[in-house]
Amino acid sequence: MSKVQVKNWNDFCPQQLFLYGNYKEDGTPNFGLFCWFSYIWTTEEEYGGNGLGVMACIGGEKLTKDLIRKNGVFSANLVTEELLPLADYYGGVEGRKNEDKMHFLPTVEKGVVLDVPTIVESPVSMELKVFQEIHLGNGNDVFLCKIMGETMREDLTDKNVPFIERYKSVKQVLAGGELRYISADGRDLGGWGEPMKSL
Ligand SMILES: Cc1cc2nc3c(=O)[nH]c(=O)nc-3n(C[C@H](O)[C@H](O)[C@H](O)COP(=O)(O)O)c2cc1C
Repeated sequence: MSKVQVKNWNDFCPQQLFLYGNYKEDGTPNFGLFCWFSYIWTTEEEYGGNGLGVMACIGGEKLTKDLIRKNGVFSANLVTEELLPLADYYGGVEGRKNEDKMHFLPTVEKGVVLDVPTIVESPVSMELKVFQEIHLGNGNDVFLCKIMGETMREDLTDKNVPFIERYKSVKQVLAGGELRYISADGRDLGGWGEPMKSL
């Protein structure tokens, strides 16, 4: 099979979806939906010390970015099929322009290490501290962060159950390409903007 040159994009290279959470000035949470996220490794103290970190690219000015800059911390909560309608809504409604965006809320719990809101219904929540912001121009920025704390659904830590069984029980949602959500086992879960209609 020959290959053809296409537009530079990440279709067929799916990305995990996360809900980034932060507390607003009045102490209530804000969540936004993000997929430009991956992992980094650091060892130096100035970069948070030895261990796993993340890089998060946030394009354009938005409430999530305002709050990350103000607080220096945020949570990243893995999106599942159960959370998808809410996640899709958080990705389509701008916090800066919609004061009542958080009218729909998951169950929120304060982080175990950092002062960040985490989502109880999400099976994995990371608590992230920013150690560097890289400006790419035109409001595009990358935040390099250290994972300072992480909570996981308890049954996912049971090593008596094969990893693949625990993995399948998570039901992650991926941003697969062509502005569609797909399940980890390859089912179409709708176009961006569709799942929120069921809220
Ligand atoms: C599937 C999906 C993935 C998204 N991924 C990103 C991302 O990685 N980076 C980004 O800057 N915005 C991303 N967005 C857009 C934000 O979710 C959107 O700007 C939202 O309004 C952010 O919430 P806020 O306005 O409360 O900060 C994504 C939206 C969708 C629907």
